[in-house]
Amino acid sequence: MAEAFNELTLPAEKAERYATVAEEIASVLDGEPNLTARMATVASMLAASFDTFFWTGFYVVDPQKERELVVGPYQGTLGCLRIAFGRGVCGTAAASGQTQLVPDVHAFPGHIACDGLSASEVVVPVFDSAGQLIAVFDVDSTELAAFDEVDAQWLEKILKATFS
Ligand code: SME
Repeated sequence: MAEAFNELTLPAEKAERYATVAEEIASVLDGEPNLTARMATVASMLAASFDTFFWTGFYVVDPQKERELVVGPYQGTLGCLRIAFGRGVCGTAAASGQTQLVPDVHAFPGHIACDGLSASEVVVPVFDSAGQLIAVFDVDSTELAAFDEVDAQWLEKILKATFS
């Protein structure tokens, strides 16, 4: 299974592809309680599944800081280390608890350009089983408007199934 898991072996249709990846993630993580292992696996498997995913990963809520995110497991070019709640797309997702679908990051007030190649992104808040915000999941693309409601809904579903 795992060795054959990549862009080429997955269904072409986006929702079908998400459904397949969601099942694979659940199967790989079955019985694994460690949060870092779970986040690293989700980032790796999603990044490997979609060509459009240029930066894929987590900013986790820092328990030692007041309303601040710190970079967690990710795939991609160097990410910013820390983001305050309310700043940029990730900080807005953390402060509001709402998924942010941004077709043009340069038009988003306060966008943080960790990598100038990022053009669009989707950021989904991640909650634990008690409903507490533990992280946000950020996916960036070098293409404008690379993400739509299908991405937002499937990412929400996968993150909920994995962490809530
Ligand atoms: N784009 C994010 C910053 C994080 S990186 O792009 C990896 C933002 O504006 O929140």
